[in-house]
Amino acid sequence: MSLGLARATREADPSDTPETDEAGFLQDLQLALSAPPHGISPKYFYDAQGSRLFDRICELPEYYPTRTERSILSAFAQEIAEEAGTRGDLVEFGAGSCSKVRLLLDALRPRRYLPIDISAEHLEQSAAELEREHPGLLVLPVAADYTAGVRLPPPLPGAPRIGFFPGSTIGNFTPAEALRFLRGAARLLRGGGLLLGADLVKDPAVLHAAYNDAQGVTAAFNLNLLARANRELGADFELERFWHSAFFNAGQQRIEMHLVSRQRQQVAVGGEVYELAEGQSLHTENSYKFSIEGLRSLALQAGFRPGRVWTDERRLFSVHWLHAPQ
Ligand code: AVJ
Repeated sequence: MSLGLARATREADPSDTPETDEAGFLQDLQLALSAPPHGISPKYFYDAQGSRLFDRICELPEYYPTRTERSILSAFAQEIAEEAGTRGDLVEFGAGSCSKVRLLLDALRPRRYLPIDISAEHLEQSAAELEREHPGLLVLPVAADYTAGVRLPPPLPGAPRIGFFPGSTIGNFTPAEALRFLRGAARLLRGGGLLLGADLVKDPAVLHAAYNDAQGVTAAFNLNLLARANRELGADFELERFWHSAFFNAGQQRIEMHLVSRQRQQVAVGGEVYELAEGQSLHTENSYKFSIEGLRSLALQAGFRPGRVWTDERRLFSVHWLHAPQ
C-alpha cells in the first residue's frame, strides 16, 4: 500500500494531541477519503474520549504491552540505573500522564525530570502531582512536539541527559521516521543515552488478540476516530456502517488498523461528500513490531551504541539502553 506524501509528513507526530489541531484533522481526513485513498495519522485517536479508551486498552487481558513493559521496568530499575548512571536530567518523549516514569524515579534519582508533551494542560497537572510525591525532584514540563525538534534547558554540568521513550510508541513511525527521530534524540542526549521500549515480533495469534480484544475496546478506540469527526467536524459517519479491522502484516512486521466500509455509501465531511465503495478502508494506524537485533541495528544506524536489553520471560516486549555518542 502506498501511503503518499501527505501521510509521510503528517504521520511523523503520533504524540501530537489534536484538540489543538482541528484544521489539520479536517484536512487529513478529507485527504484520507479522497482518491487515491490513503491513511490518516493515529495521533487523531487521542481526544479526551480516545485517551480514555486507550487507558482501558492498557488494562485489557489481551493487551500485553503496557503491563509487560511496566513489569520489566520495575524488575530491572536498579540495573537500568547502573547502566544509565547519572543524576542529571531525565527527559521523557510524549509523557502524557507521566505514569511509567514513576517506576524509575527511585532507582534513577534524576535531579530534574523534563516531560515533553504537546498537551500543556495535561502536563502541568501531572507535573505538580509528581513534585508533591517526590520532594527534591524538580519537574520542568516542556510543551512541545518532540518529533519537530525541541529546545531544552542546558543539561546540568557534568551530567548528560537521559531520554525515556516507552510504550513502543516508536512503532507508530515508519522505519524512516523512526530513524529520523532516533538521530534527533542522539543529538539531544549526547554523552547520555536513551531508554527505549519496543514491542517484539511474536506469534501472530498473540498480536492479533491484542488488537482484536473480546470486549471490543480496541474496535471502539478505532471507531472513535469517526465519532470524533462527527463531534468536531460535523461529519455524518454512521459508525455501524464500518468495521474495525486489525491484522499483522508479516511482510512489513506491523499491525495495521483499518476502518472498513461495510457497504457502498456516501459521507459528508466539512461540506464535501465522499463516495465509499464496499470494502474500502481507511488506514488508521501502523504499529511496527521489532526484533531485538533489528532495533539495535536501527539504533546503531542512528548513531547510538546499543547497550543492555531487558525483556520478560516470554520475550513479549523489550527495553533497550542506547548510549548516545559524545
Ligand atoms: C500507543 C502506539 C503503542 O500500537 O499498541 C493500542 C496504540 N492501538 N491498540 C500500539 C494502540 C491499538 C499503541 N501505541
